[in-house]
Amino acid sequence: MTASYLGRALGPTVRITVLEAPAVPKIGVGEATIPNLQKVFFDFLGLSEEEWMPECNASFKMGIRFINWRTPGAGQAEARPHGTRRDHFDHLFGLLPSHDGLPLSHYWTHRRLGGATDEPFDYACYSQPAIFDRKLSPRYLDGTRWASYAWHFDANLVADFLRRFAVEKQGAVHIEDRFTEAEVNQRGHITAVTTETGRRLEADLFVDCSGFRGLLINQVMKEPFLDMSDHLLNDRAVATQVPHDDEAYGVEPYTSAIAMSSGWTWKIPMLGRFGTGYVYSSRFASQDEATEEFCRMWGLDPETQPLNHIKFRVGRNRRAWVKNVVGIGLSSCFVEPLESTGIYFVYAALYQLAKHFPDKRFDPVLIDRFNREVETMFDDTRDFIQAHFSFAPRNDTAFWQACKELELADDFKAKVAQYKAGLGVNLPITDEANYYGNFEAEFRNFWSNANYYCVFTGLDVLPDHTMPVLSHRPASLESVEEVFADVGRRRDELLKTLPSTHDYLRRLHGK
Ligand code: TRP
Repeated sequence: MTASYLGRALGPTVRITVLEAPAVPKIGVGEATIPNLQKVFFDFLGLSEEEWMPECNASFKMGIRFINWRTPGAGQAEARPHGTRRDHFDHLFGLLPSHDGLPLSHYWTHRRLGGATDEPFDYACYSQPAIFDRKLSPRYLDGTRWASYAWHFDANLVADFLRRFAVEKQGAVHIEDRFTEAEVNQRGHITAVTTETGRRLEADLFVDCSGFRGLLINQVMKEPFLDMSDHLLNDRAVATQVPHDDEAYGVEPYTSAIAMSSGWTWKIPMLGRFGTGYVYSSRFASQDEATEEFCRMWGLDPETQPLNHIKFRVGRNRRAWVKNVVGIGLSSCFVEPLESTGIYFVYAALYQLAKHFPDKRFDPVLIDRFNREVETMFDDTRDFIQAHFSFAPRNDTAFWQACKELELADDFKAKVAQYKAGLGVNLPITDEANYYGNFEAEFRNFWSNANYYCVFTGLDVLPDHTMPVLSHRPASLESVEEVFADVGRRRDELLKTLPSTHDYLRRLHGK
């Protein structure tokens, strides 16, 4: 991603060399993304969905379905007709309608706190949950889109596709060899790296994409990694791929996040299989215990199933960019994949690097600005993810109890207070084209009002009060009923006319 993005952002006057150790496997299994991946990353490279999707076994996702975060339920979700009460809620991409200048969330709160409805926020304000239940597609067969969506894909295929793109189309040099040492000058800058076969590669700027090892940023530059286990308990995962009978069960157009006894499990459907992994806390489950619970849920045999055991560090480097070394990806920061932010963090940092790209002076103002952006991006997400665990009603195991003991950051507590007071949090998104099309706008308002409402109401954390000014708007309160009715009419129309996700993907992938 780094080579292709910087190749496009900087053009042929900057020469890019990728040093990759072929013996070190990539960590990626199935990955889930967010909608701006297309506009901010692929469109920027000039690659349409139709070009990259078929190469990467990509499928669609319109959001995340959180399962069993309120009660220890029976496990895997199967489709149920709309309206059936069960333990799930959806965190959806895209627009939340607004009415008379206020987002629908505020009117939903008014109805709900006033006892006028017990319909959950997601089903009341969006068409998507009912579409999820029936596994229908975000696009019609003629290609028309009706919803914002992102993608699931095989990260190894994407890496391969982008490597070919960077090398063949952009002239990047790809060297397969293993890093051994860095040469550092008096100024503290890296001047060259040497390799196992005796190569010496000189450069002005080094981007560390070495993953959790942080070969350059942590090991050579000695930048400290700020461990954030005081915010998030999970530090391990066990992952695998499971074959899936799409013909019989269809393909879910969403990621699932299923709460478990000591963490949660992702489920990322692709054609013919799904990627899944149990993210857990080693303080509360041993590798064997986690593996047993995970395999039992999917009916897998732990003896024969190929399992990938992953140990991760949670937090970020104190500074993402130090002197002439910039960390991108896991070498820079990592938070568990609960809200699909991993790939986003990569291209968001690349966007900031291109924006703050230095000349040979390495102006500290550029470096500080970049570091500040990465810091807020990371810390805001960490806080939002922490809230999932601390607000989850589940309290049935030592893990869920321990989550409730952790402190939330002060500025996050202030946002919660604002939500509780009925004001909502951050800007409501009312102009989708502008939001998803304008990276600066989305970056500044990454977790917006709708995100807070989806997740907090889903966890049964409701505002304490209706936004007070609404009581002075009886006309809006009356006319908003039509907006809610429209959501329902639109949903019924979509249910009648959409193709299944399975049919759409089969055609796209020519299967
Ligand atoms: N701004 C992001 C988006 O709407 C927020 C986001 C990140 C998100 N991960 C998500 C929204 C998962 C819904 C589900 O794409």
